[in-house]
Amino acid sequence: MIYNFDELIDRKNTSCVKYDALKKYFGYEDLQPLWVADMDFKTPDVIINAMKEKAEAGLFGYPIATEKTYNLVKSWMKKRHNWDIDTSWINFVNGVVPAYSAAVEAFSEEGDEIIVQTPVYFPLFKHIKSNNRKLVKNPLIEENGYYRMDLEDLKSKISSKTKIFVLCSPHNPVGRVWDKEELEELAKICIENNILMISDEIHADIVFKKFIPLASISEEIANNTLTLNSPGKTFNTAGLNCAYAICKNENLMNRFKNVVEKRGISSVNVFGFVALEAAYEYSEDWLEELLVYLKNNILFTKNYLEKNNSKIDLIEPESTYLLWLSFKNTISDYNKVKQKLLEESKVALNEGSSFGLEGKGYFRLNCALPKESLEKALCKIVTKF
Ligand SMILES: Cc1ncc(COP(=O)(O)O)c(C=O)c1O
Repeated sequence: MIYNFDELIDRKNTSCVKYDALKKYFGYEDLQPLWVADMDFKTPDVIINAMKEKAEAGLFGYPIATEKTYNLVKSWMKKRHNWDIDTSWINFVNGVVPAYSAAVEAFSEEGDEIIVQTPVYFPLFKHIKSNNRKLVKNPLIEENGYYRMDLEDLKSKISSKTKIFVLCSPHNPVGRVWDKEELEELAKICIENNILMISDEIHADIVFKKFIPLASISEEIANNTLTLNSPGKTFNTAGLNCAYAICKNENLMNRFKNVVEKRGISSVNVFGFVALEAAYEYSEDWLEELLVYLKNNILFTKNYLEKNNSKIDLIEPESTYLLWLSFKNTISDYNKVKQKLLEESKVALNEGSSFGLEGKGYFRLNCALPKESLEKALCKIVTKF
């Protein structure tokens, strides 16, 4: 290993949500934070150095994406995901969530229905509501610790008001990397019913099996899909607010761009572009090592729970560093579980029910941290459950 993911970095008092907002969100200051989806590792040096160079040049006027920026996104999609995209399909925005919210406005009317697969990354609910659309749930099915889609339920939930299906791919928090067959079947249903698909692929690079971008499957699917992505999760640069939408369908892209302009969310931070370029051009080897480290942390957690005969069950993820832990066999009162995690284990995990009621009984643990810190956290949790 060239890169040191074991380095212990004190993130407290660095103005980061994960460490500095514990009191605000959990009511306690002295917790080990295992919640927000960013990593306790430093961004690769090559990105830091590119940003330093930009800072030293002292010019921070309005930036634009250059031909190089577009080409790097295109080559990244090709080499990581075997997806050929065109420059005209890419539109930069200041975040996946703002872009998602804009897409909801662009592709539906007030009162229309939007389907999501719960349990899922919760801001996806919020922006359906804030746009005055109706949230319709198509819950995932869990069988023996593995989640799959319920397409029969999906069909039964479609009405004349259904305009958008939101795919989280790979899925946060259950960690699925959807198979080609699942995606094809899903897309068939959406296309037959005139339902546009928004595919949030922000976790696409952090995968432990082959990831297939939804829109790469066929021309027909590409013409019905708006894909959202960003280097933010992959290279731990979420705070730089640089993301992009990809859409082959010119008409859809124009509708999306109109709302992006109206909302003023097209301007990316000057360092956002610098980081994206350094990431996609020079940081692939860092990503390869990160994936090995994360996979080890996941297996370490699995073994730790098994070794200690823990009643906590890990849903082993195919992607992301977010571990979906079932506490269903521990204490039946989930408020008590929450209280014990906070007051006795002294750890901050995301509560499963915040991802939709289907997440009740689960907690999400972020394992993107040095193994030494992960072991401490697991010890504090396992001794109490
Ligand atoms: C599925 C998913 N989409 C979007 C985001 C956030 O994207 P952004 O910070 O670019 O708005 C996250 C962050 O955790 C996520 O898990």
